[in-house]
Amino acid sequence: MKPLIIALALVLAAPLPAHAHPWKPSDLRDLARQHGIRIGSAVDIAALRGEADYRKVLDREFSHVTAENAMKWESIEPDRGAYTWADADALVEHARRNDQRVRGHTLVWHNQLPAWLTSGVEDGTIDAAELRKILRDHITTEVRRYKGKIRAWDVVNEVVNDDGTMRQSIWLTHLGPGYIADAFRWAHRADPHAKLYINDYNLEWNAAKIETTLSIVKDLQAQGVPIHGAGFQGHLGIQYDYPGDWANVMRRFADLGLEIAVTELDVRMELPVTPEKLATQADYYRRALTDCLSVKVCREFTVWGFTDRHSWVPGWFPGQGAACLFDENLAPKPAYQALLGVTKA
Ligand code: G3I
Repeated sequence: MKPLIIALALVLAAPLPAHAHPWKPSDLRDLARQHGIRIGSAVDIAALRGEADYRKVLDREFSHVTAENAMKWESIEPDRGAYTWADADALVEHARRNDQRVRGHTLVWHNQLPAWLTSGVEDGTIDAAELRKILRDHITTEVRRYKGKIRAWDVVNEVVNDDGTMRQSIWLTHLGPGYIADAFRWAHRADPHAKLYINDYNLEWNAAKIETTLSIVKDLQAQGVPIHGAGFQGHLGIQYDYPGDWANVMRRFADLGLEIAVTELDVRMELPVTPEKLATQADYYRRALTDCLSVKVCREFTVWGFTDRHSWVPGWFPGQGAACLFDENLAPKPAYQALLGVTKA
């Protein structure tokens, strides 16, 4: 008996042969842990509440969550002064119970604003001074409510146009460019520990947008404004080339002292789905994670929904879809397997 135990001990203690893969992650949480980042997903609150299989995959795979819509202004204050926190609260509580960190999305945006606000600005019943106060109260109220529970906030979302000019939102038009600095300052005051981000799409590759966004960050830093991160949404499509310079772009923001996150990754395709398209999609997901991991301060890699059952893509791009890591039945796609195969550089 004894020699057998000794032999077994020797086998177990022997070093792995050089070609053996020492670690194969069991799921995305495991992968994220090994790489020292968080892998997240946007969450559809109705699905979270109503679909047990959705919850199961979300909690098994993801260690970070973002509300797809529930923290946007029209969701939390549909009528002036009447707050509807139930959905956002539910997500934050769910995350707490499941060891998930939370990205708050989003404080200042030109979209999904409540009608009372946009119509009030349009008909002049809300003037610039009041609008500024409304924005300050909105940021303060929402950030304070989740103080200590939100790892990072998308403070300003999509403030730059694709041609590099500033977006003519109601904020810029009525408050002037200083609204961005104000928003960061108000958010910081309400939760000094939350990481505060500027977030945008096409920032992966669009030179004009990249340059303007970099100069916004430098300008804010020069004024001592608390800005901590740059978020790359990453809404990609296989009909376009993969943004091959993305890692370098991330590094340019990291060089300014910011942390980096991929905040809304998805990779859409023209339907119908084919094995070739799924293979290309898998490659895009793999490259995106590899790019993030190549930048030391890339802390979070979040997908904009994890299942094709609930994705914004078909509703916005007719004829396109299948953009997520899992199919409608929550079966993992090649893209999921490709992520699991991403090893340390
Ligand atoms: O709220 C109404 C609801 O009352 C109604 O029953 C339902 C019927 O269609 O519509 C609901 O509103 C929809 C809302 O999502 C909530 O489900 C809107 O029509 C729909 O346009 C809206 O789309 C969201 C979109 O942002 C709006 O801009 C998508 O779900 C969401 O994925 C998408 O997310 C954005 C990020 O926030 C920022 N970056 C781009 C990204 C994709 O567009």
